[in-house]
Amino acid sequence: MKVVNPLEELSEEELRARLEGSALPRHVAIIMDGNGRWARSRGFARIRGHQAGVKAVREVVTACREIGVPYLTLYAFSSENWERPSLEVAALMRLLKNYVVGERDELIEKEIRLRAIGRLDRLPVDVRAELARTMDRTAAFDRLTLTLALSYGGRAELVDAVRRIVVSGEERVDESVISAHLYAPDHPDPDLLVRTSGEFRVSNFLLWEIAYAEMYVTNVYWPDFRAKHLYAAIVDYIDRERRFGRVSARAGGRG
Ligand code: IPE
Ligand code: IPE
Ligand code: MG
Repeated sequence: MKVVNPLEELSEEELRARLEGSALPRHVAIIMDGNGRWARSRGFARIRGHQAGVKAVREVVTACREIGVPYLTLYAFSSENWERPSLEVAALMRLLKNYVVGERDELIEKEIRLRAIGRLDRLPVDVRAELARTMDRTAAFDRLTLTLALSYGGRAELVDAVRRIVVSGEERVDESVISAHLYAPDHPDPDLLVRTSGEFRVSNFLLWEIAYAEMYVTNVYWPDFRAKHLYAAIVDYIDRERRFGRVSARAGGRG
């Protein structure tokens, strides 16, 4: 589906200026989609699209750190993505390993903490080991927490939470007990959920956590996503009024 995002016509500088002095989202979550279509539109194999997407990841991480968004969560590989052709899965695992090894020094230098959520035990051992190394080496940082959703499914996360609650023997289950058993219970819920490539789907991402997230969809394929698009999404978010089920504060309670 095509969306119209007039803010994306503005320059990066103009958008950045519009962010000054505004309350930024504390947590931005992104469904990085459209790598395959980006590649196909250029006559390349899908894997080239995944490779090109790494540049967008770097750019968005740097942008969040610069403007001061403290939590960024990227949907990199879903539970369902295991069903893709084995060559594509292998290429994605290789890219992931290259990323966590290749970015390690940069993350440390920029004081960015790397975390991961999902059923990580399904990842190949070598990928898991390098991921753990980068997470350990960056564990003390809090300037930006970059969380990769890997082998992640929102329903699986809830199943895993319920299983752990059952094992704990907790009998009085309420929302706070479920929240406390999610993969990253200390993270605030996402305020802004971005999806690229013009798809209006949640695709099993952070189902519990996005209960009141504002959504922003852009037509841009993930490999073409730049700081400017992130700023456009945030400016759009800032201009909205979040009501959380209540009446409008802008109308003084009468609206
Ligand atoms: C997103 O791009 C990356 C992953 C899901 C790993 P896709 O690979 O889904 O690209 P499209 O949606 O087929 O264009
Ligand atoms: C969602 O994209 C998963 C990731 C971005 C990792 P998909 O391309 O896998 O989702 P669908 O198939 O469009 O729902
Ligand atoms: Mg896709």
